[in-house]
Amino acid sequence: MRVAVVQTCPIFGEVKKNVALALSLMESAAADLYVLPELFNTGYNFNEEAELKTLAETAESSTFRMMHAWSKNHACYIVYGFAERADKIYNSAALIGPEGVRGLYRKVHLFDRENLFFAPGNLGFPVFELPFGTIGLMICFDWIYPESARSLALKGAQLVAHPSNLVLPHCPDSMVTRCLENRIYTATADRVGEENRGGRNLKFIGSSEIVAPNGEILCKLGASDPAISVVELDLALAKNKQINNYNHVIDGRRPDQYHA
Ligand code: ACM
Repeated sequence: MRVAVVQTCPIFGEVKKNVALALSLMESAAADLYVLPELFNTGYNFNEEAELKTLAETAESSTFRMMHAWSKNHACYIVYGFAERADKIYNSAALIGPEGVRGLYRKVHLFDRENLFFAPGNLGFPVFELPFGTIGLMICFDWIYPESARSLALKGAQLVAHPSNLVLPHCPDSMVTRCLENRIYTATADRVGEENRGGRNLKFIGSSEIVAPNGEILCKLGASDPAISVVELDLALAKNKQINNYNHVIDGRRPDQYHA
């Protein structure tokens, strides 16, 4: 299967323009699964809850309709991050296919000021069976808790789609470890650009990447420009958790020796 990381540069609040930029990048490269950044349609640096309430969408509103139409026309799947209006407002990722919404994930580990506006995720770490393999979802700062990718690997994820808005420099290196310790693929789609709002300037680091179960970085995008990269993956490799004759990354765990 072919997976694409789509690195965009959203303009805060300009939903239609942000969706159009993502679709124009996607139009330039064929893939089976496209992974877009966290909050790709709204931007990230909210000043207050009222602003978030205005921009939040249900999982079936205008952004969904545009992405769904595109996925039907191109017979592919799309993962994107958006502010989800539900019983509360969540920092969510949707998995869309030609058949509609295939799945939702609500960010479990909120980062910094996200804690002021978003409700913490309540759907656990879900995996979804697609025609080419089992796909798990996590969002950005979830990377710092190894339990996130581990939970997805234990549930059978072969590829973790990881919409992100990274501001710290450590995640791209750390995803190599997340892949090695779980023997999975990851596709981290980050954004670029800056958002200077309310006296807070955030610079996003780009560096979107796709990493293999052996830790090899299969592609890495730049730090400043919108871009897309597509890599052909053999998801069957992520089923082999054996490191050598004696070590298996899952069965070799010793939970009785760990502190929960
Ligand atoms: C982040 O979780 N957006 C850093």
